[in-house]
Amino acid sequence: MTDLVWLRVWAGDRQYAWQVPRGSNLREALLRRGLSPYGRYTQRINCGGRGLCATCGVRILDTPVSPTHWHDLAADHFGYPRLSCQITLERDLEIRLISGKKLWGQWLPRIKRQAE
Ligand code: FES
Repeated sequence: MTDLVWLRVWAGDRQYAWQVPRGSNLREALLRRGLSPYGRYTQRINCGGRGLCATCGVRILDTPVSPTHWHDLAADHFGYPRLSCQITLERDLEIRLISGKKLWGQWLPRIKRQAE
């Protein structure tokens, strides 16, 4: 098993793909690459990856990642974007950054999320 996994990120109609060490934190991998999971207003004011503010949400496009943090579990259950600061990259992952996000991103019913 390789120590690297692929991270594929959609930002609008652009796709970025790069490899990161297995076990990397998704939020940190995005920020290191200059891609922000935050909206305009939460870029500077957020909880810094502590799982409290829920402003770092992204949509997971491929196989779901099981939530391990209570707040990410709630986001997944109720249809909000997943907390990138609480997702560990254990395998290849494809996500979408949320464009036009003000704070948390849009709630979507489960059926629509699966079709994204
Ligand atoms: S940065 Fe606050 S919940 Fe992720």
